Amino acid sequence: MYSRKNVGPSKDNNIRSDAEVQDGYTVQQQEQYTKYLRKLKNDFEETWCKKKKYTFDFKEFDRVKTLGTGAFGRVVLLKHLKSYKLYAMKVLEKEKIVKMKQVEHTLYEKRILEAIRFPFTVYMELSFKDNSYVYFIMPFVPGGEMFTHLRRLGKFEEPLAKFYASQVILALEYLHFCNLVYRDLKPENILIDKNGFLKITDFGFCKLLQGRTWTLCGTPEYLAPELILSKGYGFSVDWWSFGVLLFEMNAGYPPFYANEPMKTYEKIVAGKYRCPSGFNSDLRDLIRNILQVDITHRYGVMKNGVMDYKNHRWFKGLEWESILNCRTQPPYVPKYRGPDDTTNFERYEDEPMKTSPICLYESEFFDF
Ligand SMILES: Nc1ncnc2c1ncn2[C@@H]1O[C@H](COP(=O)(O)OP(=O)(O)OP(=O)(O)O)[C@@H](O)[C@H]1O
Ligand SMILES: [Mg+2]
Repeated sequence: MYSRKNVGPSKDNNIRSDAEVQDGYTVQQQEQYTKYLRKLKNDFEETWCKKKKYTFDFKEFDRVKTLGTGAFGRVVLLKHLKSYKLYAMKVLEKEKIVKMKQVEHTLYEKRILEAIRFPFTVYMELSFKDNSYVYFIMPFVPGGEMFTHLRRLGKFEEPLAKFYASQVILALEYLHFCNLVYRDLKPENILIDKNGFLKITDFGFCKLLQGRTWTLCGTPEYLAPELILSKGYGFSVDWWSFGVLLFEMNAGYPPFYANEPMKTYEKIVAGKYRCPSGFNSDLRDLIRNILQVDITHRYGVMKNGVMDYKNHRWFKGLEWESILNCRTQPPYVPKYRGPDDTTNFERYEDEPMKTSPICLYESEFFDF
């Protein structure tokens, strides 16, 4: 796991301590933080360029149960028989990946998960492949999906929504700093750890961006207008999805919704939504500044970048460094009765895996 101590700028610089609460995040603080992000980016780039070799032996593990399923495979809980350490293993079927033209995305997912290290994102410990499947092994995050908690609670109280929103902002800032566009932000892909902090998972659509990209991917309710309109897009799409997430956390439902994806898209490109009466003026103002169809007016991609968030009135009093260093007391901690408690996850049918006697799609997955 991460060494929390190493996360965040050191104390011997001109950043204020947690005790001196002031309003707003200063330019000096951001400059200092940028130095730290530069170091993380260097670490990312170093690992990105290395080709690692891993060894893995299934016999050393017990396959406990399925934690989640998706279009190309599933995520299962693994227990190391000797150490009892728990892992989440994402298993993707090569055949499905090829048929759905996701080979490039899968190769990206592996390299990205291998190279990222940030307090609010998952990472990969090792990967391997066999004749039919590719596998990613990550630490198990036991609190379950934000989605499950959001549906159970109906909506999040403002302090909790703020606590989560600040971590997502820091994670997106880190990813974008490393030139990674995430492209699938939604409560299903955000996990809660045993202490109540977030870990973003599912880097299946994440990409190292050079210039703009055109691929239509993501989840209908969370797609940005520029992505729907095939305009060529960049990091702005993640900030739009963040706006949708912010709305959904506070309302309990997303801002743009219809029975069919096409109708949802029409609402998104029109940029029309209604805030529930319970939203206060600061929250409304923040959401209005994010859900801007015109990206030149969208928070996150304007000249002040992330500072527009860090200094917005809705986050007044929030200690960004405390959040980053996980020193803030989480307003909500998922129930968790021991290391292999999976009650925070939905139940899924466990399917037997059928491994082909011959190696399938060897050339497509040569680099995996
Ligand atoms: N490290 C983890 N610890 C615990 N649960 C996890 C972990 N990673 C993923 N999961 C669970 O598995 C679910 C599916 O994982 P993920 O989102 O990566 O795959 P997916 O949605 O199938 O991917 P894709 O969108 O590429 O088809 C997650 O929503 C989450 O519930
Ligand atoms: Mg997912």
